[in-house]
Amino acid sequence: MKINGVEYKTIWFDEEKQVVKIIDQTKLPHKFIIKELSSVKDAINAIKTMEVRGAPLIGATAAFGIVLAILENNNNQFLVNASKDLIRSRPTAINLKWAVDRMAKKLSGLEGNKLLKSSISEAKLICDEDISFCKNIGINGLKIIEEIYNKKKNTVNILTHCNAGWLATIDWGTATSPIYHAHKKGIPIHIWVDETRPRNQGANLTSYELNEEEIPNTIIADNTGGILMQRGQVDMCIVGTDRTLSNGDVCNKIGTYLKALAAYDNKVPFYVALPSSTIDWNLKNSKDIPIEERDPKELSHVDGINKDNKVDKVLIYPEKSKSLNLAFDVTPAKYVTALITEKGVCDASSEGLKKLFH
Ligand code: MRU
Repeated sequence: MKINGVEYKTIWFDEEKQVVKIIDQTKLPHKFIIKELSSVKDAINAIKTMEVRGAPLIGATAAFGIVLAILENNNNQFLVNASKDLIRSRPTAINLKWAVDRMAKKLSGLEGNKLLKSSISEAKLICDEDISFCKNIGINGLKIIEEIYNKKKNTVNILTHCNAGWLATIDWGTATSPIYHAHKKGIPIHIWVDETRPRNQGANLTSYELNEEEIPNTIIADNTGGILMQRGQVDMCIVGTDRTLSNGDVCNKIGTYLKALAAYDNKVPFYVALPSSTIDWNLKNSKDIPIEERDPKELSHVDGINKDNKVDKVLIYPEKSKSLNLAFDVTPAKYVTALITEKGVCDASSEGLKKLFH
């Protein structure tokens, strides 16, 4: 997708310098900065501080983290420790473990130059696959938007939460891919962008990337979706997910659950878009999903541009107040109209998922 008219991916390997390059998302939308990661510590730090974020992108960064670990120290114990640290860097998205396990399987038994070469090609393959998965999610989700448009014959209003856009993946995004495909096809659409407190991924990233692709969008406070649905101003919701259980329960950015409840009450279809790398086939009970608890300062302080044109933090709460910063919640499958995957659209249920992924 484009920034200032130039096509970018969110992560890539610079062969010449043997470093990984990322777009530093903590500075967006105010500054566009490309950052170099040259050690596994850099990769872990980028994931923890959310310079890279979004389930598929942190999975890809972990895969490249393994490449950086091999470049740094071609020693098995170092690699084992690096793998553990990468998986632990953020707990909720399953993509981290998925990517690290996949790298370990591919690299098992390899040594020296073969190990390095295979690690680079596998990390790149993870990225290429994600791009094609997200593209297919878009093609499959487009049909749903088209159906609504054919009935309505007017602008389709879509509500999304957080950033499940191309910035959260390698390209296209999950929730935004059907949106980009609909826009390219000339279907009139307008996106309600949940601000997504506390880190404002909706306002800072989703709205930013939609603007860059010239897609009409309006930022709303997180509590506004309900009244818009009551007023008939939302035709459908599409969100992403960090971990989907085999029974169709969906774990995503905090606030997704409340939006799904409002959608259910107002009979607004609520779709979740995901690549198969986000499915946790092992965990049976959503209560066992580790929910990330982040620094309360993310609530009490907001980022903005100061008078010197620098990205700065401002305190917005009473200094003595306590705050709790849970980063994700779980939407039970019964509130999800359908899952949009790279293989097709299915019911949010074990039967639905089994039909697509045998
Ligand atoms: O905390 P974040 O910004 O990493 O959370 C991102 C989300 O919740 C996305 O909706 C999810 O990762 C899906 S990304 C395609």
